Amino acid sequence: MSGGSMIFGSEIPNHHLKWWQSAVFYQIYPRSFADGDGDGIGDFPGIIQKLDYLQDLGIDAIWLSPHFPSPQYDCGYDISDYKAVAPEYGTMTDFTHFLSEAHRRGIRVVLDLVLNHTSHQHPWFVESRSSRNNPQRDWYVWNDGRRDAAGNQIPPNNWDSTFDGTAWEYDELTRQYYYHFFLKQQPDLNWRNPAVRQAMWDAVRFWLDLGVDGYRLDAIATIFEHPSLIDYQLDLTVAQLRHQFRNASTQDERKQIHSLIEFRHSLQLRQPGMHELMQELRTVVNEYGDSVLIGEEDTLDYYGDGDNELHLVFNFPLMRNEQLTPAWIRYNQQERLAGLAAISPHTWPCNTLGNHDSPRIFNQFGDGVHDFQLAQLSLALMLTLRGTPVLYYGEEIGMTDLYLEDIDQFRDITGIWQYHNEIQEFGTPADQALRIAAGYTRDKCRTPMQWQNTANAGFSPAGIQPWLPVNPNFASGVNVRDQLNQSGSLLNFYRGMLRFRKNTSALIRGSYAPIHEGAKEYLAFIREADSQKCLVILNYSAAPQDILLDFTHQPIQPIFSNQANRVTEPVQHQIQVKPYEILVAAIGNLQAG
Ligand code: NOJ
Repeated sequence: MSGGSMIFGSEIPNHHLKWWQSAVFYQIYPRSFADGDGDGIGDFPGIIQKLDYLQDLGIDAIWLSPHFPSPQYDCGYDISDYKAVAPEYGTMTDFTHFLSEAHRRGIRVVLDLVLNHTSHQHPWFVESRSSRNNPQRDWYVWNDGRRDAAGNQIPPNNWDSTFDGTAWEYDELTRQYYYHFFLKQQPDLNWRNPAVRQAMWDAVRFWLDLGVDGYRLDAIATIFEHPSLIDYQLDLTVAQLRHQFRNASTQDERKQIHSLIEFRHSLQLRQPGMHELMQELRTVVNEYGDSVLIGEEDTLDYYGDGDNELHLVFNFPLMRNEQLTPAWIRYNQQERLAGLAAISPHTWPCNTLGNHDSPRIFNQFGDGVHDFQLAQLSLALMLTLRGTPVLYYGEEIGMTDLYLEDIDQFRDITGIWQYHNEIQEFGTPADQALRIAAGYTRDKCRTPMQWQNTANAGFSPAGIQPWLPVNPNFASGVNVRDQLNQSGSLLNFYRGMLRFRKNTSALIRGSYAPIHEGAKEYLAFIREADSQKCLVILNYSAAPQDILLDFTHQPIQPIFSNQANRVTEPVQHQIQVKPYEILVAAIGNLQAG
């Protein structure tokens, strides 16, 4: 056995753990979770009815995607009132009822905080756009633009939005352009204006005063833009580069185009000012004791000095790989944990494999043959790595992406935009453009939760058309009720493993040390907290693996596995793990801590 080269993170005594360090989070996309009033749209009464389910599943905290009033150009990420509840989701009373019912069950609630932009229908923007002299004019990013050779007014530069072409929208009324990194219906706020900060911190306090437990911060990298507004020295647009990317034939070509796409947004992302802003927000949130801030960002910078910016930042690099291989996971952990350790010993990782913007785990990390086993491994990875796991609704029953077959079914405007752009700009035939857009649109991973094998999967009553089509695979076992009744189901595996983790403190607070770092087919590591040392082996291969273990003179007792009869067998210094086996064993201590 090769020894572990590095041990990351000292164990943390149980009583020093913050709730968000030991919690397992579960993301709810409110439009798609449960339709309580039968209008085809998920809502708070629906979520409240499902809290017992979530408690029984074994999660500890909910991250709720935006529940605020919104014209829904970006499925709720275009907010028109930061201090209210979208009428289709319920009333403020429904919200507070939901919050107290969640808290009563020991489930924390974290909201989504969209700082970069508002809806174009938000009263702030309505005011701002109404005249150049409006006191709120400077709350958004306005610009006169330039003149071309013929004297025509054109946008200030060649910057693109990430969703819908140019980043500048011309406004007839005042003959200026406003900037939007996302859709044109999502104008960027001007965060250099202190009044914007005060108004947003006021909204942040509003929900914390009601008792919510923190925020997931949307798209923080996009908040500031390079003040010089200089052009990119590259004529290709983001849409053209993405088109090239899709048509690229080699991995190298794709890599090259990917870096050009990154370059094509580099003046609009991660600009100076962010860290001061995050520190300011942290100060506000610190007034509320234990509240947590979780950043939607790749880089570790947003942990600040470990204590003055965000508490958690998603480990997105882990999931941005075509396959989860042992080598990739090891590399990711090495990078991530070493990076965190370099900031401060207080930093804490946050791992996830799926969300409302990415393909479902079953599709992304399946191989079409062993999808079920690979889905089990994905959960096992989340629950055994060091850090806070964040799960996505429906992954516990193996929900899969749904490829829409008619453009009229699309709700995600980015997909609709892409469909039309494929046809108009690149002359792609409509049926092919539809397939491309169906693979690209985030609608595919946002379909209604599948509760049972009845009409509409039990999401909405029979005869009602849900806001997005239900994936028909609810009728072949991909639903909660059937899986609850089936002992070998993915859902029961989730329930079992979540319970196991809760009772195994080394997995929650222990250090992490990789072992057998040359193994191509399996991942092995040790999690250790004072009273407990756990060996974790995840076999990513369809072949059994003979593994030599060298924990001299210490008993090795399996305490969790997805293989029948494993937990009763004591393990000697050699073990054969089965194909796709998940094994957790206690070393030198037969008790789970
Ligand atoms: C990131 C969110 O996760 C995504 O759904 C949204 O479209 C953009 N930010 C813009 O808010």
